[in-house]
Amino acid sequence: MKIRSAVLCAALALTSAVFGVGVPPAAAESAAERAVAARQAGFKQMGGAFKAVNDAMRAGKLNRAEVAAAATRLETHATQLPSWFPRGSGPESGAKTEARAEIWSDAAGFAEAAANLRTQAGRLSALAREGEVAAVRKQATLVGAACKTCHTTYRAED
Ligand code: HEC
Repeated sequence: MKIRSAVLCAALALTSAVFGVGVPPAAAESAAERAVAARQAGFKQMGGAFKAVNDAMRAGKLNRAEVAAAATRLETHATQLPSWFPRGSGPESGAKTEARAEIWSDAAGFAEAAANLRTQAGRLSALAREGEVAAVRKQATLVGAACKTCHTTYRAED
């Protein structure tokens, strides 16, 4: 009991040291923080869908239905992606985000990068249904490149 409350006290002291006096440790999440949390969850799902594509191909024998379904999920995410970035949810908000300010200052370029992913994922889905392994493999590389192209310009990676 005693040890536990000592630990709690230390944790609280540390929290106020980090956040400064006057800021309640359990400050309500801001709209920007909620937007960041929601989009990071969306990107995790995208990561899962892309992994499913690669795993299904690595299994040696192409699982057409699996790849097509995962590609369709990616296509849907790509369509939603621009709406995950409401104005004010960038680095200037103070939220912990890897989103770069260029997403908003170059909104057309960002929309194009999202549209490119949608196109590539759509092609992957169609090719998976046709079942030509080499073509699917090549197209999966283009999907990966569409992720990377956007990350290079619009995501701050450390
Ligand atoms: C149009 C731009 C764009 C495209 C396309 C894109 N991403 Fe991202 N991605 C971002 C941005 C911006 C962030 C940073 C989000 C943040 O931290 O607020 C991010 C973050 C992530 C994250 C980290 C999420 C987290 O937990 O913080 C993963 C994983 C990810 N992307 C995977 C992918 C995959 C896989 C693809 C392709 C299938 C992809 N992304 C395509 C812009 C993009």
